[in-house]
Amino acid sequence: MASRRDFLTTATLTAAGFALAPLVACSQEGAPPLAAPPAPHADTPFSGTLLKRAIPVSGEQIPVIGMGTSGSFEVGRDAAARTPLREVLRRFTAAGATVIDTAPTYSSAEDVLGDLVADAGLRPKLFLATKLSGVSGRDEGLAQFNDSLRRLQTDKVELLQAHNLRDTQTQFALARELQQQGKVRYTGLTHYREEAQAELADEMRRLKPDFVQINYSPVSRGAETAIFPLARELGIAVMVNRAFEDGRLFAQVKGKPVPAWASEVGADSWGQLFLKFVLSEPAVTVVIPATSKPHHQTDNLKAGTGALLDEKQRAALVAAIG
Ligand SMILES: NC(=O)c1ccc[n+]([C@@H]2O[C@H](COP(=O)([O-])OP(=O)(O)OC[C@H]3O[C@@H](n4cnc5c(N)ncnc54)[C@H](OP(=O)(O)O)[C@@H]3O)[C@@H](O)[C@H]2O)c1
Repeated sequence: MASRRDFLTTATLTAAGFALAPLVACSQEGAPPLAAPPAPHADTPFSGTLLKRAIPVSGEQIPVIGMGTSGSFEVGRDAAARTPLREVLRRFTAAGATVIDTAPTYSSAEDVLGDLVADAGLRPKLFLATKLSGVSGRDEGLAQFNDSLRRLQTDKVELLQAHNLRDTQTQFALARELQQQGKVRYTGLTHYREEAQAELADEMRRLKPDFVQINYSPVSRGAETAIFPLARELGIAVMVNRAFEDGRLFAQVKGKPVPAWASEVGADSWGQLFLKFVLSEPAVTVVIPATSKPHHQTDNLKAGTGALLDEKQRAALVAAIG
């Protein structure tokens, strides 16, 4: 049975298809009329090269489209639910994407990710980020980290983040210690709510992590003042979560065609526009949309190619969401 989200997406994209048809015809002026308008948002394969941005502390370049695992990878041993996730991962790495964010507190997500990555032999291609989450004290944090390594079937991770400003001083010190031991390449701090960004900014100044992970979207723009200028000043990479407001942004544009100007930036879906909005902030290093569906993965990856949004297009997108 189609899920509510499937329905919303299909309805929105069908509308987008009709809206874009005249544009496609215009772009082919002089050519014979098309028998039927192409489906702009058919699940056409990803092509092109993903944009990359540098992690300020090292200069290492990473692809701007990553992925999250909250919800999407929390499927336990359910074989039917794991099948599309294999394809979600395959498409991700085939496009050259690398950054995957998870957490020990996302129920089975680390186990599922660890199994699927190991089965497909993908570990060398990935930049894995996990967290010290919901723990108190160094011993609990260390035990949790070792458990994460076991669940992810790896002996190190690329990024370890002290999660949601809990026991931050101790957990971040542990992340640094593990970095010195070579078990962690980068350290980070995370949060997912705008109300926490002032405190997060204080911790960025105090601890100078390599990464900060925050929420940012066309309807949650607090990071533009609270986080981005500081991240640039201090040379901290920015990872963006909740770019789709956990999917709620799609409901807000339900039934609306994508704006005509979307074709100017090579976009043919709302999802691509939302991600391009995030990436048009120069302080953003990588965005981590979560999906359980292969065609959404392809859609998300497409946002990481071609032009981003200029100021006028950013304002038009915000206005279009309404
Ligand atoms: N540090 C923190 O405190 C924190 C908090 C929240 C999240 N995070 C991280 O950030 C990641 C992303 O955040 P999130 O999972 O909350 O939400 P999100 O990425 O804003 O939205 C995910 C939702 O959007 C849908 N979706 C994805 N791609 C789509 C597309 N192209 N078209 C239509 N729908 C699409 C997904 O449904 P389908 O499965 O149907 O595609 C899913 O329900 C998390 O997974 C997690 O790794 C961190």
